[in-house]
Amino acid sequence: MKVQEITLFVNGTQYDFSVGPRLGQIPPGETLSQTLRNRLGLTGSKEACGEGACGCCTVVMEGEAVTSCMMLTADCDGKHITTIEGLANPSTGELSVLQQTFIDHYAFQCGFCTPGILMTATALLAKNPHPTEEEIKDALSGNFCRCISQYHVIEAVKEAAGKAGA
Ligand code: FES
Ligand code: FES
Repeated sequence: MKVQEITLFVNGTQYDFSVGPRLGQIPPGETLSQTLRNRLGLTGSKEACGEGACGCCTVVMEGEAVTSCMMLTADCDGKHITTIEGLANPSTGELSVLQQTFIDHYAFQCGFCTPGILMTATALLAKNPHPTEEEIKDALSGNFCRCISQYHVIEAVKEAAGKAGA
């Protein structure tokens, strides 16, 4: 089997892997969610449904919110990826504007869905700094919260909208 070399850029750090069947290689069927969580130790994004239905595993790839359980790592060569661990300022630890407004608005309860929601909202505000409430709801329509935190989430995203660094 031909070995494929791939490079991921995750939260600004370069990771080189080879794809193949051997120990230490990434199996061709390994998902990005598995790689982030199990190989890189980035367990902030969660995996629940494993089939693209809940949004808990969402990360930002090349500016787009993607469900990492639905991406094969072998297909992500050269991609720039941001996970929840990459939102805060790496030098100071200061939270992103969105992270802070989520705290200010108590926009979570158990928090299991929160990393995915934050990543979806981060991608939204990067592309559309002043979304309408309908646009926020539409962007977050693939992120499910069992704790019914959605109303607070909408308020948190609305407050973050337009602020620098959100
Ligand atoms: S775990 Fe990926 S969408 Fe549910
Ligand atoms: S805060 Fe518990 S699932 Fe959303």
